Parts: sequence; C-alpha cells; structure tokens
Amino acid sequence: MKTLGSVGTRSLLFGVHQFLWHPFTVWLAWRELYGPPSWKETICIVLHDIGYWHKKSMNGSDGVNHPEAGAELAGRLFGEECRQLVLGHSRSYAQSYNMKPNKLCWADKLSIKYEPWWLYLPRAWMSGELMEYRGMADQTGFINKRQPHREWLSRLKEQMIEQAYEEVELAGLMSGPECRYPYSINRSSEYM
Ligand SMILES: [Fe+2]
Ligand SMILES: [Fe+2]
Repeated sequence: MKTLGSVGTRSLLFGVHQFLWHPFTVWLAWRELYGPPSWKETICIVLHDIGYWHKKSMNGSDGVNHPEAGAELAGRLFGEECRQLVLGHSRSYAQSYNMKPNKLCWADKLSIKYEPWWLYLPRAWMSGELMEYRGMADQTGFINKRQPHREWLSRLKEQMIEQAYEEVELAGLMSGPECRYPYSINRSSEYM
C-alpha cells in the first residue's frame, strides 16, 4: 500500500480522512452539536482536510499545516469567515497561530463517535496511519504499543468525544436537537 502515494494521500483516498466518509461523519457530528450546517458550512466540512494530499506525515511538520489548502479554497469561494472556519478546525494549527479552535474543530473531534472500529481500524491500517498514531500514543504515554489496536481506539474515542462535548458546552455553542450530552462511555462494553 505504501507505493500508493504519501500517507496523507492514502488517508484521503481510503484512510481515516477518506474524502467522502470522513466529511460525512463530521457533518453528522456538526448536526448533533449545533443543528444542521448551512450549505456553505457543508462545503467547508467537505474541504477541511484536503490539504493532507501529498503530506508525508499526519502530525509531523508538514501534516500540521494541512488546514491551509482547504482554507484557501473556502476563502476564495465564500470569503474570510469560511477561510477561518477551515483554518481553525485543527487544534494544533490554531494553537501555533494564536487562533481559537472553532466549531468545526469540535465537530471534527466528535466525528470519531460515528466510526465503528471495524470500519476505522482497517482504513487506518491500510493507509499506514495506524503506525504513526500508535507510535505517537506510545511516546506520549497515552497507551502502550503492545496494547491491542481496539483498546487504543476505544480510549481515543472516549477522550475525543468527551473533549468535544466539554469544549462545546464551555463555549456555549451546543444547540443541536440531537445533542446527547452529558455523554458517558460504559467502559464495561469494551471495544466499541
Ligand atoms: Fe484536519
Ligand atoms: Fe477532519
């Protein structure tokens, strides 16, 4: 699989950021948190990760700049507000440029809730992202490399979902009719 372009390209084609499925899960998360997005916001959701194309790492020095390509396009199409929406979807990017993470950032985080493990893990494995993500999780002490992938994903989901709900609640942005907060994961139901 590694012959098929860079890890960023593979991610967009068939990996974690698959260009149809990932935006769809972000759209679902946005709808849950804030109500249905406008059509412009929907286009921003579709475009937000296109900058992974040709990126040699997901979270390395080039991968962290991935919001810029989608933001540039969104800005040309719909103006500055949409450019900022796409730029601020990545927390690490926003932090590096002294911006506040925005609504799209929390919808992006919550989107993992809509990913069953049997769909997420094969994509992450095929694209090569899984190695990078597990390596990082091991280095930061989040979870040891020897733990099963499903345990890693389960913990990741728990962390990202809780963070998304908490941040949106704190910012007073939560307005979606389907919002299911407070969210609690039953740890006895292992490996969601
Ligand atoms: Fe992103
Ligand atoms: Fe994303």
